[in-house]
Amino acid sequence: KQRIFSGVQPSGNLTLGNYLGAIRNWVGLQKNYESIFCVVDLHAITVWQDPEQLRKATREVAAGMIASGVDPKECIIFNQSQVPAHAELAWIFNCVARLGWLNRMTQFKEKAGKNRERASSGLYVYPNLMAADIMIYKATHVPVGEDQKQHLELARDIAQKFNNDYGVDFFPMVEPLILGEAKRVMSLRDGNSKMSKSDPSDNSRINMTDDRDTIAKKIRKAKTDSEPMAETPDGLEGRAEAKNLISIFAALSDRSVADICTEYGGQGFAQFKSDLADLSVSVLGPITEEMKRLCDEKTYIDQVLKEGSEKARKISDPILKDVHKIVGFLQS
Ligand code: TYM
Repeated sequence: KQRIFSGVQPSGNLTLGNYLGAIRNWVGLQKNYESIFCVVDLHAITVWQDPEQLRKATREVAAGMIASGVDPKECIIFNQSQVPAHAELAWIFNCVARLGWLNRMTQFKEKAGKNRERASSGLYVYPNLMAADIMIYKATHVPVGEDQKQHLELARDIAQKFNNDYGVDFFPMVEPLILGEAKRVMSLRDGNSKMSKSDPSDNSRINMTDDRDTIAKKIRKAKTDSEPMAETPDGLEGRAEAKNLISIFAALSDRSVADICTEYGGQGFAQFKSDLADLSVSVLGPITEEMKRLCDEKTYIDQVLKEGSEKARKISDPILKDVHKIVGFLQS
């Protein structure tokens, strides 16, 4: 079996973007790949996290994965800080990646904002840690949303430079798996910005913790345009909000965007939105309820993370040992 790795930050609520862009796809992949899914708490602290809140969000993300159908018996589920090899390999990658490469990362520019001098140095080297997450298991495939594509290209560059510098064929060239009809879920208020847990407007996103009424209300209020619904995917060009809602519909129902266009094309948005609200509630409602139930069972989640991190260490320890040998760290 080939090995996949992916991660989610525990830095606030899980969103529909995390679900459709990543977690829902993992559920389909876990049977065919050896799967490692990580709650990346080391990444989360690149911006300030309240410690109590971080613990809570870590359990919540793990619960969200499990409630969505990621099976802890079939996959490794753990939180990053319980496996020190991530941070250790990241240091080595800090010494492999070039400043020029990091300077091109668009996510750093967005997250650091105007006041770059005040961003943490962790935020800057974040992509090196992300490369280490993948390479410490020599994972070959990484299922993510489209926003992570640039980071994965950097991970390949790092692996390649490491292999070249040390004259080895050690790290594999990782392939992104960007799957489904909602590769980039956009804000419900602005079709040109990404749906994100850090958007100040709660109406811009659907949280995995939202109750059924809230989900339905947010969809009814979602921004659209005044044209009738498109009859073909081509007709969605330049209509970011409409395209986003139709992609969400397609992804949640495992149908194609073309199929949804055929069904609703030519109509106004009212019926479509009402159906989308029902669909969202029927898919997300049970997940949210299961997530809440699991969050009340802290000991179960903590046990899953503990066992997951033990399994993860079994894979990563020998790989880190090999890296130490390659780099020339003396093992006495
Ligand atoms: P994060 O926590 O921002 O998001 C977790 C996953 O959700 C996807 N995603 C989206 N997909 C579609 N539309 C959206 N609006 C949307 N928002 C989020 C992300 O693409 C991601 O797959 N750096 C990563 C976490 C990470 C990681 C890794 C991923 C750390 N190490 C190693 C893969 C491999 C991040 O910040 O994801």
